[in-house]
Amino acid sequence: MAEPRGGREQWASRRGFVLAAVGCAVGLGNVWRFPYTVAEHGGAAFVLVYLVLTAAVGVPLLLAELALGRRGAAGPVVALGRLGGPRWQWLGWAFVAGVAAMLAYYGVIGGWTLRYVAAYFAGHAPTDPATFFSEAATGPGAAAALLAFLAMSAAIVARGVRGGIERLATCLLPLLAATIGGLACYAATLDGAAQAYTYLLRPDFDALRSLDTWSHAAGQTFFSLSLGMGAMLTFGSYLARSDGLARSSIGIAAADLMVALIAGLAVFPLLFALGGAGDVAENAIGALFIAIPSAFAGLGTAGEVLGLLFFAALAVGAWTSAVAMLEVVVAAVVEATGARRAPVTWALAAGIAVVGLAPALDRSVLAWMDRLAGELFAVAGGLVLALFVGWFMQDPAREIGGPGSVLPRVWVGAIRVVVPAVLAVLLWSALGSTWAAATAGLPG
Ligand code: TRP
Repeated sequence: MAEPRGGREQWASRRGFVLAAVGCAVGLGNVWRFPYTVAEHGGAAFVLVYLVLTAAVGVPLLLAELALGRRGAAGPVVALGRLGGPRWQWLGWAFVAGVAAMLAYYGVIGGWTLRYVAAYFAGHAPTDPATFFSEAATGPGAAAALLAFLAMSAAIVARGVRGGIERLATCLLPLLAATIGGLACYAATLDGAAQAYTYLLRPDFDALRSLDTWSHAAGQTFFSLSLGMGAMLTFGSYLARSDGLARSSIGIAAADLMVALIAGLAVFPLLFALGGAGDVAENAIGALFIAIPSAFAGLGTAGEVLGLLFFAALAVGAWTSAVAMLEVVVAAVVEATGARRAPVTWALAAGIAVVGLAPALDRSVLAWMDRLAGELFAVAGGLVLALFVGWFMQDPAREIGGPGSVLPRVWVGAIRVVVPAVLAVLLWSALGSTWAAATAGLPG
């Protein structure tokens, strides 16, 4: 493969790349979506399935995306075109559209986090969290917060890969990890802690037999690792050499998993101490935004500090992920048109803000977008990407070492057969349950 990359920007260091990729992965998916999906799908059994799928499907696919991006040395549209021929470019554009749709609703939730941070910061901690949420989450205020959040993301992407994305992740991720870790330690001292740990860690093995558990866990794996949309592909395209891809993938997945588990250890004791675990499953999307402030409300000043820390960590995670999404769209358009990065970034962010008005003004639209763009689309995208790398890309094993050694062979076997087979079954099941939800009028 051609090593010189014709002026294409690259990560300053391997560590910077890994941090940026962790920043892309760690986000609302870990702190907001993971706890409520766990609550909806049976606690520890779901966590166990999630672990299995992260190792068996998540890591191989993450590696496949990184390898594809590195070899194609471009975002999804150009990389797929280069390695598969022009026919494949439409797939790249489908990814770009999917990511843009995702950012439109993800940005709305990012906007919520900003409003919570602002409220706690100003000393106006929500006293009636359910009302606060329903006012903050939908309507013109939510649209304004979406704009602010997208502007923050565009400001980073406009600065480029090294000076923007890598720098943001390097500065903020350690803070995020320390905050979530600190909150988990605090939560360990609460009355609900023991009950929460049992709930999270002792599986009900019957739930393992339900295909639904597996398909939602796959959806969550994809969401959390930012897979199936060409995002990791784009991040891989800024890598100079292919060595260490396997190790980086495992590191990224492990870090993402750790943050999700630690966030669970922080969130569930709070909910159990308050008896709110049922609410989480019922009011999925708003769960955290109502239950957490309720848990903190009785604690006076300490509660205000904890609230500020919690929502600041959530906002940071959302920010680094939104930056990654915007980067995918920007990279594709810059590569297709040759236009300059900064104006493209702002124009695309403005376009995405317009799309985001729909989920900002109607929460059921948001729930549907999460189901379709966040889960189904990504799982379908992952299936196609695995097939592409496994069957169409020449000699994929070369990306992670020689064809002679064991690891590359296991990996190629995984993305050729195991990953597509698992994803096909789960996609089928997810389509079925989404269809059932659609005919019942609910976003499942
Ligand atoms: N992984 C992100 C999170 O956990 C969400 C996400 C899904 C994402 N797909 C993405 C982020 C694509 C960036 C790019 O919040």
